[in-house]
Amino acid sequence: MQTFPDVISLASGYGNFAPPAAAVAQAAALLQAGPLPTSPIAGMPELRAALAARYQQQGAATGPEQVLVTPGAKPALFALFKAALEPGDEVLLLTPNWFGFRGLVEKAGGTLRTLPLDPATDYAWQPEQLSSAIHARTRILLLSNPNNPTGRVYTRAEWEGLLRITRQWPGLLVVSDEIYDGIHFGPEPFTSLLSLPDPHRQHVVVSGYSKSLGLIGWSVGYLVAPEELIRRAAAWQFSTSAAVAALSQAAAQAATEQASAISQQLCSGLLTNREIMRQWLAALPPQPPFPLGTYYAFPDFRRFLRPDLPLTEASAELAARLRAGGAEVVDGGSCDAPGFFRLSYAVPEPLLREALRRIRAALTAD
Ligand SMILES: Cc1ncc(COP(=O)(O)O)c(C=O)c1O
Repeated sequence: MQTFPDVISLASGYGNFAPPAAAVAQAAALLQAGPLPTSPIAGMPELRAALAARYQQQGAATGPEQVLVTPGAKPALFALFKAALEPGDEVLLLTPNWFGFRGLVEKAGGTLRTLPLDPATDYAWQPEQLSSAIHARTRILLLSNPNNPTGRVYTRAEWEGLLRITRQWPGLLVVSDEIYDGIHFGPEPFTSLLSLPDPHRQHVVVSGYSKSLGLIGWSVGYLVAPEELIRRAAAWQFSTSAAVAALSQAAAQAATEQASAISQQLCSGLLTNREIMRQWLAALPPQPPFPLGTYYAFPDFRRFLRPDLPLTEASAELAARLRAGGAEVVDGGSCDAPGFFRLSYAVPEPLLREALRRIRAALTAD
């Protein structure tokens, strides 16, 4: 009989994927070739070129000089914020969203303001709501697509609606964190912000290799932005940290060249667990539509909260109750969505089944 840990975690943001063989082979070849090369601060020219080519294939006009390679997506975001924000500048974040954004914006000297999207409309962005939320001090509109934690994937048509508004503010940067871009299950190919027309050169993409490309622990991410911003972000990286190790960049280059095949394989490997999660949720009280992207579900457990507590406390209390019942999940309160909980299904199937059984038992216990 299989034994399980006392607490099974569905809370990690990283999947249980093996690194892609081609990436490992490229890194191993470099390691065996002798002393490692050092990298220019903005990244190895071959990797910057491979990334630019990847976005060109999606219809973008990106050149290698618009790419900064960083030690993960988080440093890419921080370098961008340091390069773009002046004191008093505001970052408008569409929520729910990844809990890490707030600290990065604040530590970079910006002011974070949130624009909540409604689960009842499947987190659609509403033109009127956007129009009235953006003003002269708003320097950055920030979102993630596919969204962490909701898993929502925004379509080309939705982007077009949003960009009609942001084009009225040429000093505004539209920043799309696309680190989950390869993990999507919808009928439409994924739309990168970079593939949409950008007459005012406002579009910025942040991404990395730790989610959609299986390079967990290799610490590679990147920023794609207008050249002047890249120069400033690279200067920040030069004076405060270092270029990414050539070994990781070699692996990243191989992964970039085979990005679609790698992500497709990851998605196929997730299908069984995705279906287990989908069916498990279908047996609960009505939920928002099952997300088309990421390896998360973000169910609404508001009806299981203690009614005598304020919402955020009740949400934290339920997360603690689930943990006491043997399953760790992410409290949506950390993503501005108390009462919702992020559950990853990128874990081994037996662990997923057991964790879901424990969650249901904890939710329905008297
Ligand atoms: C939306 C989003 N952006 C950025 C990051 C940070 O990624 P990295 O591990 O490459 O720094 C994460 C990690 O969880 C994330 O979910």
